[in-house]
Amino acid sequence: MCGIVGYIGDKDARPILVEGLKRLEYRGYDSAGVALLVDSHIKVSKTPGKVSKLEEMLHDSVFARIGIGHTRWATHGEPNIINAHPHSDCTGNILLVHNGIIENYSALKTKLISLGHKFKSQTDTEVLAHLIEEFYPRAQSLEFAVRLALKEVDGTFGIVVMSASEPEVLIAARRGSPLVIGLGDSENFIASDASALIKHTREVIYLHDNEIAILTKNNVALKNLDDEIVERDAEHLTFGLEQIEKGGFAHFMLKEIHEQPETVLNAMRGRLLDDEGISKMGGLRDVEDKIVDARRFVITACGTSWHAALVGKYIFEQCAKIPVEVDYASEFRYRNPVLLDGDIVWAISQSGETADTLAALREAKLKEAPAYGIVNVVGSTIARDSEAGVYIHAGPEIGVASTKAFTSQLVVLNLINLLVARRKGNLSLEQGKEIVEEMHRLPEKIKQIFNSVDQIEKIADEFKGSRNFLYLGRGVNFPVALEGALKLKEISYIHAEGYPAAEMKHGPIALIDENMPAVFIALRDSTYDKVLSNIQEVRARKGRVIAIANEADDRLREMAEYIIEVPKTMEILSPILSVIPLQLLAYYIAVRRGCNVDQPRNLAKSVTVE
Ligand code: G6P
Repeated sequence: MCGIVGYIGDKDARPILVEGLKRLEYRGYDSAGVALLVDSHIKVSKTPGKVSKLEEMLHDSVFARIGIGHTRWATHGEPNIINAHPHSDCTGNILLVHNGIIENYSALKTKLISLGHKFKSQTDTEVLAHLIEEFYPRAQSLEFAVRLALKEVDGTFGIVVMSASEPEVLIAARRGSPLVIGLGDSENFIASDASALIKHTREVIYLHDNEIAILTKNNVALKNLDDEIVERDAEHLTFGLEQIEKGGFAHFMLKEIHEQPETVLNAMRGRLLDDEGISKMGGLRDVEDKIVDARRFVITACGTSWHAALVGKYIFEQCAKIPVEVDYASEFRYRNPVLLDGDIVWAISQSGETADTLAALREAKLKEAPAYGIVNVVGSTIARDSEAGVYIHAGPEIGVASTKAFTSQLVVLNLINLLVARRKGNLSLEQGKEIVEEMHRLPEKIKQIFNSVDQIEKIADEFKGSRNFLYLGRGVNFPVALEGALKLKEISYIHAEGYPAAEMKHGPIALIDENMPAVFIALRDSTYDKVLSNIQEVRARKGRVIAIANEADDRLREMAEYIIEVPKTMEILSPILSVIPLQLLAYYIAVRRGCNVDQPRNLAKSVTVE
């Protein structure tokens, strides 16, 4: 989720790299750096913070015709100067920038250290520089050394590499993390997305997975990892900068909704042990026993993260058999909560900066309870203040209404549940394996939901003028009803309420008439028949029913005016799928009402006041 840019030509590389990085800052912005070739040496400048800080540092740097740059969104290692990219080998002759995650970096690092390599950073990326260095004498060329190194690597990468020994070439490679090459006149560019190079050229070639690009000033050659030439024509970019940053989507929120197959995968990447039917999370390794032996979990959060916590309650109590209390962080911090021996406090926060959640975490620490974080932004205050924790690796979330962070939080809660339930013996090896297999299937299942976009748009057309909405669900999908209602009110300003479907009878039913849309989450799970009865109650009062369903049967078809199908999965995983049509419905209704989807009125992405 970081930004990459590279240049080779006759112009001064420095301003081109800096400007490109500024364009990419929306992808990650906790530290930045460049490597420039000056008089056959590579000069590296790095800094924590924004690209503008890097720009100041480079103010009087000398002319360089080749260079690479990076703006970082930390995954492994805190955002500081040492962990900032570019990373180098032992000699400082080989420099590289990387997007993605090297899953087997720990094993590779141990091996490289035993071969005498000296590591400086905590990043997964640095192993690549040392691996290339290791292969260089045998390979005799940077290109070949990169190819050999990449054969050792599991995980995802988009990399650009330069070497002082080969000052006329940049080598790039991709698996999973996008790279695009910009073709110029006696100059070539490379970047993680086209926004960084569109000012210089609109002729581009997209690198595909498992391909290497060899860039010189006058030429670009593509090969696969087996050294076979790949032919690909350049494309002409016709769209504008704004559209490129949003990946061709009309809004960041829509882009982030569509990123979920990838972000859900990133949340579990390298954390599932298929053969043992269990999970492992580096950030919890030292406190695993404490978690397994916990007598109670207390989860605190705000907004969408609070809804994720509520889903967590259902999962942990059902599988891990740990009693769970979920609290609004703002209430927890002032209510002088009773924390006993054996309690573990979890703080869930996308930003890691929400003032109330941070205060709740500190309150727990004051009461000497173990306090752990589930956070997206690496190095954020909550991440730093937590004794231990898990990053959800969703990448920067720009849309104010949280979408991809929610599903990634749910993945992480499921990983923790799997770990505890298996270690406590509540799940057998076979049951654990089944969950692992089903988690692997989630990204594909999310993609299938996007086939329903036409149907969702139709529903948005029909209900865009409604003044109220009810969202109803039961069990693990009750918090999804709350989240669906929150999404709609946040971005479309339509009044919406989420309720447990059965609780509707105790109040909201009075609101139901022929103008009231009720969105039911009616999945084929343990609550299905009961939800159907609740739908019947709404229909009997002429309410209009929209149902999120697995395969709709005749009974449901008769009662629901609109049905949006989501693939079937295990009940504990089902909110990861059922929330996605609700995100899309809120989005399409808000767009039709002319609302500012990415920056809704009165809201802030990160609420750092009480
Ligand atoms: C704000 C945002 C919400 C978010 C909540 C908690 O209200 O608008 O989208 O869910 O804060 O934020 P956090 O970063 O702690 O998850």
